[in-house]
This record gives sequence, structure tokens and C-alpha cells, in this order.
Amino acid sequence: MAAREVFSSRFGFVMAAAGSAIGLGNVWGFPTSAAGNGGAAFVVAYFILAFCLAYPVLMVELTVGRYSQSGIVGALRKVSPSGAKPLGVMVAAYGVTVASLILAFYGIVAGWMIAYFFEAVAQLLNQPAWAEWLTSFGITRNIIFMLAFMLLTMWIVAGGVTAGIERWSSRLMPVLFLILVALISYVLTLPGAMEGLKVYLIPDFSKLSSELILDAMGQAFFSLSLGVGTMLIYGSYIAKKENLPSLGVTVTLVDTGVAFIAGLLILPTIYVAKEMGTQVFNDAGTLIAGPDLIFQVLPSLFESMGTMGMFVAFAFFLLMSIASLTSSISMLEVPVSMALEEFKWSRFTATLVCAAVITLCSLTIVFNFEVLFGFVIDLTTKYSQPILGLLFCIFAAWLWNRQQLIEALKEGCPDLEKGLFIKIWPVYIKFVVPLLIILIIYQQL
Ligand code: TRP
Repeated sequence: MAAREVFSSRFGFVMAAAGSAIGLGNVWGFPTSAAGNGGAAFVVAYFILAFCLAYPVLMVELTVGRYSQSGIVGALRKVSPSGAKPLGVMVAAYGVTVASLILAFYGIVAGWMIAYFFEAVAQLLNQPAWAEWLTSFGITRNIIFMLAFMLLTMWIVAGGVTAGIERWSSRLMPVLFLILVALISYVLTLPGAMEGLKVYLIPDFSKLSSELILDAMGQAFFSLSLGVGTMLIYGSYIAKKENLPSLGVTVTLVDTGVAFIAGLLILPTIYVAKEMGTQVFNDAGTLIAGPDLIFQVLPSLFESMGTMGMFVAFAFFLLMSIASLTSSISMLEVPVSMALEEFKWSRFTATLVCAAVITLCSLTIVFNFEVLFGFVIDLTTKYSQPILGLLFCIFAAWLWNRQQLIEALKEGCPDLEKGLFIKIWPVYIKFVVPLLIILIIYQQL
């Protein structure tokens, strides 16, 4: 068998992992959850959960992945004692299913982003009829752009780890960052922006509730791409000489940092729209945060900005499309690496077959949109991801040999022995993380 591919540099890994982590969850989910949940109160809860709960789980995935040198199925099999191996395979299968279902709905939403991107192009080319079609919610449009997005995702994943995933993440992530900064610099000069900043940055702790904590936890797990084996697989492509705890911190910081920065764009933009007379609160008096925000509030703002608005819309939906693409490739890599390793298919065949199956799931959702769309999102992101994160901790801390866990972690950072991390983390993922996750989910039920 050919040697396993390895990310060619630290930078390459950070871009790929940040590319996976930074997606619609950061630029849309996080800012709008913050807006609807007491602004900075949610931001604070999110940051605490990201570092105290999501980061330790990220470390589990990276460590198990690099140690086992395989995707989720092989990894959970390898760290399980002989009697528990079938259990490992079952949990892995659950993870692969959840990853695939996440891509199935994500592909639809990402398709909308591409459609709106082309709408901006159509406006710039003065083609109002195309623009109209691109922005009206219809089954044909949804299918065409979901397929286009899936093809792009497939094309990158078929290229492999370094020539596909790493190369495109390293190219696209800096572009994403530049667009984000440019948009913020512009929006903050507009009237109303400061009001949005206030709502975002001044906490209203009266909004803190168990619901908010569950939301913040789901958001943190979703944003760091946890629970389904994405980070585990990326971990398996990290060279042995790299220091895992510090890579994990970098990824968590970049991800939460970009979520925070995206809030500096979205919240002010909403209040600029309000200032310009767009309706930003619904009849019940709450902020419009779901799809209507992205596909009605913001476009109507861009429209009222004249020619400049066309460029802003172009940049905004390009940003959203790039963010989606560097995330979707990491989702597709989960089933693809399983097919490569378990069924010994070629990367091309594996990519083709996995993408085809997921596209069928997407089509099922498109045709039963009202019933399935929200249901699949809640099932996968709100419940399955934290539960799987919990199961990963159980495998790493309870079923796997403690000595091997420590050795695997120490590779690439012999000095670890001296620090606090190694004293706290193994105990922490054994008791604290599982308990917290159970508690938060239980509170909700
Ligand atoms: N983290 C990405 C976002 O914030 C989405 C994502 C990529 C993801 N890979 C994942 C979510 C794996 C769950 C599982 O949009």
C-alpha cells in the first residue's frame, strides 16, 4: 500500500483545519445566534464552551487520528480493546452517517450561496431576469446549485490530501480573510453600524438559560467540525514531528477568532439595514436571524446601496461560498477515507460513489424540504455531534490504554511532561467533558 499522505507543512494543516472549521457556522450561525441570544452573553458562553469543552474533544480527535494513522473506522477499532472492537466500528459508522447527512443539508445551503453570488454577477451584467430566477426559491434552482457545489467539493477531494484539500484550503482561506476584513472596514463606516456593534458587544446576561447553553455547545461542536471524524482524519495526516496541543490551540483560536470577527460584520450590517428602512425584526419583535436574514434582509440592503451594493453583494456571497467549500471538502473526506481504507477503493471511485450517495440524500431533502430540512439539522448538529464527542472521549479515556494515549500525545512535543496539559487533560476528558455534555443535553430534555 502507498504511504499515507501527510500535510506538507504546519501552515498547510492549519489552513486545512481552519478551512474545515470556518464555514457557514462562523459567518452565519454564530453571529445570528449571538444576535438573538443577548449579544455578548452568548459570545462569552460560546468562548468558554469552545475552550473548555470543544478544544479537549478536538485534542481527542487529533491524538487518536495521528496515532491510528487511519480514518474513523480504523481509528476506533484500533483504540478499542479486543472485546469492544465491534462497538468501535458501530460508533464509527454512526459518525460517518452523521458526516454524510451534514454534507447533505450543507450542500443545499451552500448552493444558495453560489446562486446569490451569481445573482450579484447578473446584476453587474445588467441581467435582471437571470437575477430574478437565481434568487427565487425553487426546486430546480436548489437542485442545480446543490449539484454544482457537490461537483466542486468532489473535484477537490478527488485530488487527494496535499494536491486537493491542502492546496485549495491554503489558497482560499487567505482570500476569505481579506474579503472579511474589507467588508467590515466598509460596513463600519455606514450609519447604524455602531448600534449593531453595541448589541453585539454589550452582554445581556438575563438571556442566559439552559437553552442558550445547549445552543452555544452545539455551535461550538459544529464550528470546530467535531464528533464525526473530520478532525480525526485531518489528525491522521499530521506529521509525527508536530506538536499536537499547540496545533489544536491554534485551530481553536483561529476558528473562534473568525467567528468573532464575522460578528463584527453581520451585526453592524443588520443595523445598517434597519437604518436604511429594511425590516429586520419580525412581527414578534425578534431579530430575523434564519435564512430570511441572509436571503432577504441583506440582499435588500445591498440593493439600496446602488452600484456599490452590487460589489458588496458579490464579495459577501463569494465569502460565503468559499467558507462553505473549504468545510464541505472536510465532510466528504470522512466517508471517502473510510471507503479507501475499508473497501480498498481508489480515491477517485471512493469520491464518486460517496458523493453520489450524499447527493441522493440532498435530493431527498430538497423534495421534502418542509419536513426534512430542519429535522436533519437538529438531529445531526444539536444532538448527534455532542453525543459522538462524548463517545470519542469514552474511547480515548476509558477503553484505550492510558500509556499509549500519553505516548501518542507526546510525540512531537517531548517537553509535554513538564507542562500542565498532560496532568489535566487525560483526567478532564475522562470525567469532566462527558459529565458536562450529559448535563447540558439532559437539561434540555
Ligand atoms: N465547521 C464548519 C462550519 O462552521 C462545518 C463543518 C465542516 C462541519 N466539517 C464538519 C460540521 C464536520 C460538522 C462536522 O460551518
